[in-house]
Parts: sequence; structure tokens; C-alpha cells
Amino acid sequence: FAGTMGDPSTLTFVQPSHTISPDQAVSPGHAAQVLVRWGDPIEAGLEPFDPRRLTAAGQEKRFGYNNDFLAFLPLPVGSTVSDHGLLCANFEYTNPELMFPGLEIKTKLETMTREQVDAEIAAHGHGIVEIRREGDTWSVVEASPFNRRLSALSTRIALSGPAAGHPRLRTSADPDGRTVIGTLNNCSGGVTPWGTVLIAEENIDTYFGGDPKKTQEAANHARMGLKGKSRYAWSRFHDRFNVEKEPNEPNRFGWVVEIDPYDPTFTPVKRTALGRFKHEAATVVVTPDRKVVVYTGDDEAFEYLYRFVAARKYDPTRRQANFGLLDEGTLSVARFDDEGGLVWLPLVFGQGPLIPANGFNSQADVVIETRRAADLLGATPMDRPEDVEASPVTGKVYMVLTNNTKRPPEKVSRANPRSDNRHGHILELIPPGAGKPGTAHHDAERFRWSVLLLAGAEKDGAHYHPKTAQYGQWLSCPDNITFDRKGRLWIATDQGSAQARHGIPDGIYACDLEGEGRALVKFFYAVPKDAEMCGPCFTPDGTTLFAAVQHPGEDSTFDSPSTRWPDFKDDMPPRPSVVAIRRKDGRPIG
Ligand code: FEO
Ligand code: CA
Ligand code: CA
Ligand code: CA
Repeated sequence: FAGTMGDPSTLTFVQPSHTISPDQAVSPGHAAQVLVRWGDPIEAGLEPFDPRRLTAAGQEKRFGYNNDFLAFLPLPVGSTVSDHGLLCANFEYTNPELMFPGLEIKTKLETMTREQVDAEIAAHGHGIVEIRREGDTWSVVEASPFNRRLSALSTRIALSGPAAGHPRLRTSADPDGRTVIGTLNNCSGGVTPWGTVLIAEENIDTYFGGDPKKTQEAANHARMGLKGKSRYAWSRFHDRFNVEKEPNEPNRFGWVVEIDPYDPTFTPVKRTALGRFKHEAATVVVTPDRKVVVYTGDDEAFEYLYRFVAARKYDPTRRQANFGLLDEGTLSVARFDDEGGLVWLPLVFGQGPLIPANGFNSQADVVIETRRAADLLGATPMDRPEDVEASPVTGKVYMVLTNNTKRPPEKVSRANPRSDNRHGHILELIPPGAGKPGTAHHDAERFRWSVLLLAGAEKDGAHYHPKTAQYGQWLSCPDNITFDRKGRLWIATDQGSAQARHGIPDGIYACDLEGEGRALVKFFYAVPKDAEMCGPCFTPDGTTLFAAVQHPGEDSTFDSPSTRWPDFKDDMPPRPSVVAIRRKDGRPIG
């Protein structure tokens, strides 16, 4: 039943104040516990965190920076235990001016020391920590043998699939082109049915200095956004981040990486069959005849939505038999038409324009230059594809388009219906057979689609359930999404520096997808000032919602931060952290 007479939504929680503040805020009747913060030890016997004494070696034993994707993997493997498991977290990028004292935003690239740069590189990657709940309180098991950091400074990662070993992936440090040090800019990700985690390398162009125009990969690097102007100081100390010295190093990033969190000795693998671009996420689903399908969007203005269909079938009886599934299959890109249809166009070497006359000499070239291959096939340029996830209840797929202020009026279409789209929108993609759990044919050539909602406030041409102003709340710039056990959509938002201008808090919103309350969005949780919300993820029983507070205080400095969340201590800067949200009565959220 609805919480208020006349409110058609099945979501009955009370909304917190829709305002931006230095602290977090959650729906009354809930508690948001700070579970783990940047710098917290993930190994027994370490000193309490002191950012003034942060070293690279120390950072590799501590929770990394700017947590994004989160996954909860129950212990033991394959169970639905909801009070004990592994928390997997991506560490997407760094804000050195908030990590180290004395740095200025304008001059940091010249003034950062080697030690600071190495600590920054070590703060990138991924973290696996064992967590446990007693009563209402979650805690990290510091001495767990599962705890692990993947760092961009030292973790060896294998390459597999069509591009592994290709000359365009070889460097002086890796003449075989089969082992990369580190994984960069891991944004969101996904969990496979066999209990591994996929993490998605996104804005990899930002790390490389040197002039890409002077390399044999100039056109490829330009298409991936490399401009010879890095956001980081890394190329001053590490030749591999200077494209003039190592022109192939960027080709070793921009992939989807598979990790087995249950095996601390597992060598992570970059699965090149899934293509190379700015992967936001990688969502895995299984078709009724056990084919494995991965959806993954390319988050940049006018980029595309992709899908990979594995050649071999999922084997639920033998976990290890599935570990190579993502190395062989068909990558496709989406073309949306104005009549509500979607067709998947295969990116296969030798087919259509993907031939030597166009510079493609193998499937390796197709995956290394996925964006150019998709351009030639006539894929539909979208308003920044962020997360794409399939409802476990209906099999319908939700595609989040976060915003695109560069779309001119003459390039508007039904799938991207607003020019100067500041607030973003969400599309509903319907594979044949969708409607019940496990019946959707995610591998079909054609889907149907429609618009779920256009975000923003009423004055922005927004479109939600008509009773949103009365019973709900508007959101801006949807980014990561997840579903609760009833198949309702939970939406994390990220307006970046536009948050204050829009006057809309970033955080978590939720809505029904079916029935009378469809697209009636309600507000659940607000992040602290200048943060974005990432990684929402429920425990299997739906009683805990984990969420990642990323970059609190962004665009300010260590010495003068805009918030000191979550510690609020005078000598501590803001710290990206994971929160665990629970109802005070312990019942499922929603
Ligand atoms: Fe890392 Fe597209 O957000
Ligand atoms: Ca982010
Ligand atoms: Ca994102
Ligand atoms: Ca975003």
C-alpha cells in the first residue's frame, strides 16, 4: 500500500530534506553508518591513518581513494548470506589537492613530489575487504586473508582475448604485450553469475602526458581523447605515462578487468574481447538458454552502448569452467531508431567496413579501436552512457544517460530528446521475452525501447510520473543504478560541479518501474557537499544498502576543504568512504 493517501508509489520511506549540506542525510527511520574510509587499514597492526605521512607502500595496505563501484559477495561463495561477505570497491581516481597538505589546484602538476605521485598511483585500483555485521553495525575484518588491494603502481594484470600479445599492446617493459601493471580509472563494474567481479576502466586518457600527435597511434589516441595534457603529474616521474616514450601504453587501458575476490592469489585479467573505450560499467546477465551477455556503456558525450554475447554457455555446476567465457564471443553496438526499435550491430573483423582498407587487419584492431569501428557501423551517439543494468524481476534493461550539454537542437532524436541536456535521462530497453525473471532474450538482434524519465525539474522539460511534484522529488544527472528485491529502481546521481548551480542534492533516489507508481521518483539519501553518489548495492536480503561517497569536498583543498566529512576533525581532510544504510527496525529497505 502507499504511504500517503493518493500516493501511487509502493515506496513508503519518508524523504529527507532535499538540500545540499556539508553532512550526509538519510531518510528518517534509517541510519547511514560510515563503514570504511580512504586510508583505513585493510591489514592488521597498522598505525591509525595520518594523511601527512602517507607513502605509496602504506597506501597499498589501506583503502584507496574515490570509491566508485561496490559489490557485496557473500561468504561462503554462492550463498545468500547477508551479514558476512566481501566488499569489493573500485578506486576510480584521485584528488591530490585533497590528499596532501600544501598543494594548490593550479600548480599541483609542477609541485607534486615523486613520493606523493607514487602514493596517488597506489590509491588507484580496487580493494577487497571482508566485512561482517553484528546487530546493526558493520565492520571490516582487518586481519582477513581475503583482504587485498589492486594498485596501479604494482599489481600485475594479465591480458586475454583477441588483443592479448598484439604488437600494438607491446611496450619496453612488456615486450610480449601480455602483462600490464595496474588498472586505471575503474568506475563502475558488475558481478558475474560465477561470483567474479568485473571492473571497468573509464577515463584512461587523463593519465598520459607527451604529445600523442608525435606517435604512430595518433589517430587512435585522439579518438580516445588523449590530448597530450594530463590531469596528473605521473609522466614527470614514470616514462610509461609519457606517450612519446611509450606510445602503446594507453592501448593497455580502457578494458574490462575480471577479478576473483574469493581467491587472493588470482591474477586479474583484462578481457579484451569486450572492447576498448571509456567503459562505465559491465553488467552480466544470462539468457534462458544459458548464454552470457555483458552490457557496457561508453561514458562520453555522443558515445555508444555496447553488448557482448559469449560464444560458450554458462555452466552453473562448475565455477572454474566459466573463467574464460568472456574471451570469446561477439561484441555489438546499439543503433536506436525513432520508432522505438533498437538493433545490435556486430563488430566483427572482415564484416562490413571492418576490413584492411579501413585499417582493421584483425579482431585485435577492432577491439583496440572499438569506437572507430562503431562509428563506421553507424551506431547511435548517446547523451553519455553511464550505468546499464537489467532488472532481475522483469529482465528489462535500464540505460542511464547522465547529461550532454553539447547536443545541438538539430541532433535531437527520440532516444536523446533534449538539446543542451543538462539533467540526463533513463531509457528502458526491452529484449524479446522480457516480463518475468530469467525469460529475457538478451542475445536477440532487436529490442524495443522507450523513455522511462527525463530528469531535472519541471522548468527543464523534465518528464516523470505526473504526481512527482506532490509525492516525490526530482533528480539530476543519474549515474549508477541498482534494483531492490521487488525490482524497484535505485538511482545514484552525479552532477559534478553543477550541483550547487542546479540546487539539487546528489544522492540516492528510487522509483517503481511497473504499476501505478512507475517513474514516481522519491529521494532517499543526500551525499555531503561536493561529493557524488556511486555504487549502490543491496545485500541479498535487502536490509543493507551499501553506497560509495566519492570526492567529498571536490574543487577545494586539504588546507581549506569545503567539508570535513566524515570525521569532521580539524586536522583531517574529507575522505571518500563507503556507507552502510539500514532501517532502524532492521527490515528490508524500501
Ligand atoms: Fe566514472 Fe562515467 O563515471
Ligand atoms: Ca566518478
Ligand atoms: Ca559513473
Ligand atoms: Ca558521472
